Amino acid sequence: MSDHCVIVTGGASGIGAATARLISAAGGYVGILDLNAEAGAAVAESCGKRAIALRADAGDENDVKAAHVILQSHLPPVTGLVNCAGAPERPRPIEDCPVDEWTRIIDSHLRTTYIACRVFGSAMATRGFGAIVNLASVLSFRPGPVLGYGPAKAAIVNLTESLAVYWARHGVRVNAVAPGWTDTPFLRPPERGHQRDLTPILRATPMGRLMRPEEIAEVINFLLSPAARIVTGTTIPCDGGVIAASGWAPYGGPPAAAEPVTAS
Ligand SMILES: NC(=O)c1ccc[n+]([C@@H]2O[C@H](COP(=O)([O-])OP(=O)(O)OC[C@H]3O[C@@H](n4cnc5c(N)ncnc54)[C@H](O)[C@@H]3O)[C@@H](O)[C@H]2O)c1
Repeated sequence: MSDHCVIVTGGASGIGAATARLISAAGGYVGILDLNAEAGAAVAESCGKRAIALRADAGDENDVKAAHVILQSHLPPVTGLVNCAGAPERPRPIEDCPVDEWTRIIDSHLRTTYIACRVFGSAMATRGFGAIVNLASVLSFRPGPVLGYGPAKAAIVNLTESLAVYWARHGVRVNAVAPGWTDTPFLRPPERGHQRDLTPILRATPMGRLMRPEEIAEVINFLLSPAARIVTGTTIPCDGGVIAASGWAPYGGPPAAAEPVTAS
């Protein structure tokens, strides 16, 4: 895949960084767009000569368009887009979440995804070839106490389906992944002092562990690849069984590792 060229928003950290490294390790070109220029440059450096990083706010269409112009002069035409940019939200009741703050979180995920699809997806559709992977979440399907994040992630599933149909005959596939709790800085944001009691998360995850960013990147890479040529408009949970286990709550949650498996 020597001319495979993938733009990764939010590629300076976590799932985006793991995706950038996986794509470049397979010989693809990578364009990283992130607010964090320094971390983006470090990831690009770790990817080798086929990656470049630009500081860009994925929520600002002018920023993204300007980045596209710069990338066009350094990389082959874009064949893939992965939308990882977005900020975490602190769980809280509606009374403690002012409208402006709620809008900021929605924009951080939904607006960024929309803008990158509009800029890079439209360019791919014009050339008749490409694939997009958006970042949804288990909270797209099972709401929690994050009132901006969950609705934004639910909307990303809907946007993914709409764009998949819209571009189906223009050679651009659009899919999403819905990670469970994944071991990145997102899970332990600075306002929590980079700390978090993971016990409730591990209890809610049948596999009993966090996902690793490299594992999410593998699924993203599959969706970008020719192996997924007939897959479009779908969201793949990568969650260690979290969504499947939600009906187990009234029965005490999913079985713990200590519980023996016995046949009667
Ligand atoms: N980590 C998890 O448990 C988890 C679970 C489900 C979904 N997700 C989703 O996966 C995606 C990546 O998450 P992660 O865990 O890798 O997070 P992360 O915090 O490690 O990385 C996110 C990156 O996005 C960048 N970013 C934020 N806003 C931006 C903007 N407006 N423009 C450009 N860059 C911006 C940040 O600087 C950071 O480098 C997010 O959309 C997140 O909602 C994460």
